[in-house]
Amino acid sequence: MKVTIVGAGNVGASCAEYIAIKEIAEEIILLDIKEGFAEGKALDLTQTTSTLGFRSKILGVTNQYEKTSNSDVVVITSGIPRKPGMTREELIGINAGIVKSVSENLLKFSPDAVIIVVSNPMDTMTYLVNKSFNLSKNKIIGMGGILDSSRFKTYISKSTKYSQHEIDAMVIGGHGDTTMIPVTSNAKCSDILLSEILTKEEILNITTNTMVGGATLTKLLGTSAWYAPGASVSYLVNAIVNDTKEILPCSVLLNGEYGAKDLCIGVPVIIGKNGFEDIIEIDLNNIEVEMFKKSVEAVKQTNSALDGLI
Ligand code: LAC
Repeated sequence: MKVTIVGAGNVGASCAEYIAIKEIAEEIILLDIKEGFAEGKALDLTQTTSTLGFRSKILGVTNQYEKTSNSDVVVITSGIPRKPGMTREELIGINAGIVKSVSENLLKFSPDAVIIVVSNPMDTMTYLVNKSFNLSKNKIIGMGGILDSSRFKTYISKSTKYSQHEIDAMVIGGHGDTTMIPVTSNAKCSDILLSEILTKEEILNITTNTMVGGATLTKLLGTSAWYAPGASVSYLVNAIVNDTKEILPCSVLLNGEYGAKDLCIGVPVIIGKNGFEDIIEIDLNNIEVEMFKKSVEAVKQTNSALDGLI
């Protein structure tokens, strides 16, 4: 299996590291526009081969898209991350053009690859890739929900006695501070509903912390997070290359599912070797249904800034 990661910044490099350590792919290509940067990251990572004990090979290249040819999965992390106080939506002006040209270059050499979009605003960038190329929608997956769900599980674990491994919880909706929907109605710890363990107020606190989970880290770090984002991408890559058929919340093009169409937004999907295979419609309570409607409107509003690009 060959996986290309475009953007050797924090998220891209962490993603390459986890894919290598877990031997998810034999061949990992890290590509960046900054001369020598991906080469440096790849060389540094390669020098962890004997101490960490993995067999994956990592190659770094500067803009040499021909080296990415015949990738099974391509991951787009290119563009700028947000700074403290910025929303993900504010990045659209710079990142949209970058994501479009990166996808075009990748598709020249890997027309059949599954494309994972990570660049922000992620739902809008995923929509942009869908609208710009004549590809099967099943091959275009935005990664945000897996990350947001891992933050949701972190906060649930901190508020309960349960370890993250015992928690079943998912975040759907947009990957934005005000658009994501931590689905509290069916979140469970060891098969016990969260509402039976915590008070309404405690659950509301978890929801709030989850929604601003990325912003909290941006404030602490001075730039956006990378360990959990990189790990979440590697988790999705693993589900694709190993055809696991796991149900994961991902941003995909809707056509009537959840009462919405013509946008990409986070919903549970079945992941396999060809991308996402199916959209799963889960039960939501009335509040979550309302939140989903609002999220759809907000993501569509951000998408409207793509006029002229698609
Ligand atoms: C975050 C960025 C990667 O949520 O969107 O940390």
